[in-house]
Amino acid sequence: MCGIVGYIGKLQASDVILKGLHKLEYRGYDSCGISLFNENIDDFILYKDKGRVNHLQDDFNYDFENHLGIGHTRWATHGAPNHINSHPHASVSGRFVVVHNGVIDNYKELTAKYLVGYSFESETDTEVIANLIESFASSYDVDIAIRKTLALLEGSYALLVIDTRNPHIIYAGKNKSPMILGKRADGICLASDLMALVGISDEYYLIEDKTFVKAVKDESGYAFEMYDPVGIEFCPVRNEVHLDTEEINKGGFPHYMLKEICEQPSVVRKIISNYAPDGKFIIDKEVLNLFANKKRIYILAAGTSYHAGLLGKVYFEKISGIPTEVFVASEFAYNKPILEKESVFVLISQSGETADLRACLVDIKKLGYQSLTITNVKTSTLAREATKYLEIFAGTEIAVASTKAYVGQVSVLVIIACVLEQDNKCSLLTEMGRLAVAMEAIIDRRDYIKELIKTRLLKRNAFYIGRGIDYFTCLEASLKLKEISYIQTEGFPAGELKHGTIALIEDGVPVIAIITQKHINKNTRSNIQEVKARGAEVIVISMNDIKESDDDIVLMDVHHILSPILAVIPTQLITYYKALDLGRDIDKPRNLAKSVTVE
Ligand code: AGP
Ligand code: GLU
Repeated sequence: MCGIVGYIGKLQASDVILKGLHKLEYRGYDSCGISLFNENIDDFILYKDKGRVNHLQDDFNYDFENHLGIGHTRWATHGAPNHINSHPHASVSGRFVVVHNGVIDNYKELTAKYLVGYSFESETDTEVIANLIESFASSYDVDIAIRKTLALLEGSYALLVIDTRNPHIIYAGKNKSPMILGKRADGICLASDLMALVGISDEYYLIEDKTFVKAVKDESGYAFEMYDPVGIEFCPVRNEVHLDTEEINKGGFPHYMLKEICEQPSVVRKIISNYAPDGKFIIDKEVLNLFANKKRIYILAAGTSYHAGLLGKVYFEKISGIPTEVFVASEFAYNKPILEKESVFVLISQSGETADLRACLVDIKKLGYQSLTITNVKTSTLAREATKYLEIFAGTEIAVASTKAYVGQVSVLVIIACVLEQDNKCSLLTEMGRLAVAMEAIIDRRDYIKELIKTRLLKRNAFYIGRGIDYFTCLEASLKLKEISYIQTEGFPAGELKHGTIALIEDGVPVIAIITQKHINKNTRSNIQEVKARGAEVIVISMNDIKESDDDIVLMDVHHILSPILAVIPTQLITYYKALDLGRDIDKPRNLAKSVTVE
């Protein structure tokens, strides 16, 4: 997945790059590195190591003039996270230095065909790129050598390249993996995400797939050139950076995750004010047209966004009456159903950059279907490439574990479903206002949850059980507990446990039951008795109108169809406080990255 930053300009490059890498650590954080042109010695230096950007910043010396460089924070795909596999990677002679985000599918074939006799230091696919450029540069000038290399690469890449013989240019290329270019009068910054540009540049340009870019310093200053795949130079569209720097601070909270959990009531209110400015839900007409006369909706998503999609199916079917199917994006490509002709695709993605989804989008576009992306990042690839997009207005989400974006996604799905309802009788607007109040009430009681888990969640494994829409909350709750606390957790339909998995229940195994719906209350409570009889440590989350005296977490009553948006909050808090107790790295759990840009 990786985050990359390159800079050429009047500022100290190491400052810009290290600051940028810090902000991009959500994309990967197992190792990092930087290459800079050290003007004091008139040569390039290269620092890299396993570990976080803090290490790169604190344990190396940047006390020299440097105004050009490239940096990388890695999420390993090829080769363990260690010093040698960290980026930047140099070609065999050291002439070309490369940072890369993505996966080169044909790197073995390219090695066999073009790089016989080359020796490689690392296990990465990236080193092949540096050497391909070097091999072509022996017969062609550098621009052509790089463009020839780009033309051979299959897979995904956002690349920055330095020719150490010319410390006045950064070269870039991209396909599928994101990259943007920020411009200021006295410099140019290339990065995986706008976040790296905050405080550096207000003006930016999106780099399209297969574009070749040069950021150059010459007598007149700093300029960039962009070339299309056939080599014709073009002028890209200028955009302005609108990012709130406050959003990317912790705002007094110890972790982004807790801050983002606590922001959820205001996310719901922001969504209401954006989608119901005049007391009635409104969706852009062109978005609505995508659904006109459609017999089926297909929802595609991954991880937490997939769980939002499962609720989306409930809303589209129960509120709007449109049959809906939901697919995990990484499976859809290989296990497509028979697709209904009159249908529309809804892609749900917080980041808007998830590679599995992008692969699906390319596929469905080829098949002629229209698509809607529901995302938190309106400048993202999936927002740009789908027919239309809708924003969830959750504000920048930094913690790897998605919380407020999930709540935003589900809320927007409810609103679309209401607007699509034929008779337009849906009265959930006031109910959503009440929902925000109920969310606040449980967030205010978070210290109670903090204490509760200290004595009740003590094993290496746990179960969440629920029925109907509560089951979908269980899936999301268990994913969250797994990813942050590393406790092995399963979300289960409450009635299904007895068909096998109940064999795992023994003394003290935590079973967290979610009951928000009257019609399944009694059934889920029977299942609670079954696991209690086998020694389970049961925690019950219920609603006020169906509570029993010994329920552990009782939520304020909200409209039954909105209850998943409320019930997920105590589960996020359970996760947060358990991970805190266990001393986990809450905002950056092991092996994960915020934006999954590899398939
Ligand atoms: C959420 O907590 C996870 N880190 C992960 O499942 C995430 O939801 C998934 O990778 C999809 O990301 P997206 O919403 O940005 O597409
Ligand atoms: N494939 C490269 C590596 O393993 C880049 C990884 C990525 O972008 O996730 O180092």
